Amino acid sequence: MSKVIIREPNDAELIHIKSFLKEYGLDDSGISKEQFKILLYNNEIAAFGRLKKHNDCIELCSVGVVKEYRGKGLGEAIVKNLLSEVKQDVYLVTVIPGFFNKMGFKEIKEYPISLKYKSENFCEKHHPGDVIAVMKWEKKEA
Ligand SMILES: CC(C)(COP(=O)(O)OP(=O)(O)OC[C@H]1O[C@@H](n2cnc3c(N)ncnc32)[C@H](O)[C@@H]1OP(=O)(O)O)[C@@H](O)C(=O)NCCC(=O)NCCS
Repeated sequence: MSKVIIREPNDAELIHIKSFLKEYGLDDSGISKEQFKILLYNNEIAAFGRLKKHNDCIELCSVGVVKEYRGKGLGEAIVKNLLSEVKQDVYLVTVIPGFFNKMGFKEIKEYPISLKYKSENFCEKHHPGDVIAVMKWEKKEA
């Protein structure tokens, strides 16, 4: 049976993740291991993502699944795990809103100023021609 573990990466794993971020054109700015969760599938890094704290919001970013592990629900699993620990609303900027819709994110037109740079520059640079969406996930009261 396959074994899945989700936890914070160590220093060596963070270096590994950094190379995936570069390969997949994902946000690798200002990274630290405390922001990340990795999903290990049979002890191999299969998925990763992070919550980045800005002055005015929390952003979910750098979400990726290693190519050979895609289509197994691991992307959804890492996102759900990250969201399970937050105490406030979460924002993201993406070119694949359909994927995040499934996890409760809704597209918004007005958003925190800290996301402006990414929505206007980063995605355009890394995903030219794609439609960029800014989305929000609302933390439900317990
Ligand atoms: C997008 C990505 C994280 C999806 O990972 P994954 O493990 O293959 O996705 P899952 O298997 O968890 O898929 C969960 C659901 O989302 C759907 N989905 C997967 N990729 C999708 C996409 N690009 N657009 C819309 N829906 C998508 C799946 O069909 C599945 O739907 P279902 O539950 O109805 O069957 C992965 O393809 C990836 O790393 N892509 C490159 C990096 C990237 O684009 N990251 C996001 C940047 S914001």
